[in-house]
Amino acid sequence: MIHDTTPDIDLALFGALGDLALRKLYPALYHLDRDGLLGESTRILGLARQDIDGETFRQRVQQALKKRVKAETLDKACLERFIARLEYLKLDFATVEGYDAIAKWREGAERPMTIYLAVPASIYGDICRNLNASGSLDDESRVVVEKPIGYDLASSQAINDAIGEVFPESRIYRIDHYLGKETVQNLIALRFANPLFGNQWNQNQISHVEITVAEQVGIEGRWGYFDKAGQLRDMVQNHLLQLLCLIAMDPPSNLDADAIRDEKVKVLKALKPFTQENLGRDVVRGQYIAGSIDGTSVPGYLEEEGANTDSRTETFVAMKTEVSNWRWAGVPFYLRTGKRMPEKLSQIVIHFRQQPHYIFDPDQRDLAANKLIIRLQPEEGIALQVLTKDGGLDKGMRLRPGPLHLDFNSAFPKSRIPDAYERLLLEVMKGQQYLFVRRDEVEYAWRWCDQLIEGWAARDVPPRRYPAGSWGPVASIAMITKDGRSWYEDY
Ligand code: BG6
Repeated sequence: MIHDTTPDIDLALFGALGDLALRKLYPALYHLDRDGLLGESTRILGLARQDIDGETFRQRVQQALKKRVKAETLDKACLERFIARLEYLKLDFATVEGYDAIAKWREGAERPMTIYLAVPASIYGDICRNLNASGSLDDESRVVVEKPIGYDLASSQAINDAIGEVFPESRIYRIDHYLGKETVQNLIALRFANPLFGNQWNQNQISHVEITVAEQVGIEGRWGYFDKAGQLRDMVQNHLLQLLCLIAMDPPSNLDADAIRDEKVKVLKALKPFTQENLGRDVVRGQYIAGSIDGTSVPGYLEEEGANTDSRTETFVAMKTEVSNWRWAGVPFYLRTGKRMPEKLSQIVIHFRQQPHYIFDPDQRDLAANKLIIRLQPEEGIALQVLTKDGGLDKGMRLRPGPLHLDFNSAFPKSRIPDAYERLLLEVMKGQQYLFVRRDEVEYAWRWCDQLIEGWAARDVPPRRYPAGSWGPVASIAMITKDGRSWYEDY
């Protein structure tokens, strides 16, 4: 079934044979097609440097889909329909020659042109200029760009300026794929549709917040990119700060893109600055050494393929920060993210304050606070940890913590949880921007991260080692323990 609500587009995909396209974008587009959410005449033009013909390109995409899409959703008729949408153009992105073929592909087309730049940010500017010079764009053309935009504030400004010379902000879609995740979207519903939480969401009721984004994977053949970035630029500057913004922002006056983004920017501006003093105390950088994950030995960061053995790039960061405003004054936000952790886990834990007066068994005092656990992945769901009386005649008034649990997979068993890229691509097609990051958000996030980058460079201290398969350097546990707290551990 073809849905009539998604407009047709022409999608020009730069980096059409790259990892992101093969791993994420074609599977997402295929699923949209299968669910009837691609416009009937939508076409996709793959662009890359490789000298292959259209047939070989279509075969490569088909192979990628067979590898990435679950067999039960790989439907033969739909696969054929999807593959038939694909065309290929060999192109050297850096020079304008050859771009006229894109204009030719577009001749007579009345649907909007969407450019997807699945390539390094350093060439965004060249591509935008060449597209413009070749007359391939019109007043409706949109551009989708991936993070990280730059490696600091200055480089991100240069990249944003170059894109901005060709596209107005209203037609630039900056992806942070965490914003497309189902549970991340649910944060907005949870906070602003439920007075139960809305009224408790401040420093009077919340003692602290934890955000953990742990990955089992290491560098996965991306040394060249990762070693220049590190975990701060790769994950904190974008994904973790976006999560923090959604947790900390004030209610927007409506769900319009700018209403939401204005509130997020206010949070970024209110983040406590880093100084040399609190940097040493409140931030821990780590780098994994060899270890074992799920019983399998894995190499250390410096032994990965292509590694520079002197590298001091961090693969783990833990930090304590604050949002300095009326809502959050004095509430620490503990953030941590790392590669080669024992499991893949993205989770936010909101710790509520203790009751003002406690009347139960003094031995159980530590139990006595509610926690809201928002699990982004795996097993997306939300759990509210509450205390109830332990059952049985012999227990007196013993308390027992237990979850009120909403597991999305079992609560909504019929609905497949879509990948973040499906939602994001659909929003681009519909021309809706609220799940995309505005230029000022990117820049305020860089301003804050630059303090860390510069502070680390000035201190010149190597990252702390942690064995692959552990939860990071011991110092990251000490950092939170000093405050009389611990990382939530119910994995
Ligand atoms: C990407 C990072 O943005 O997010 C990767 O560049 C990381 O290094 C990935 O592995 C994690 O995404 P997800 O959706 O698997 O949590």
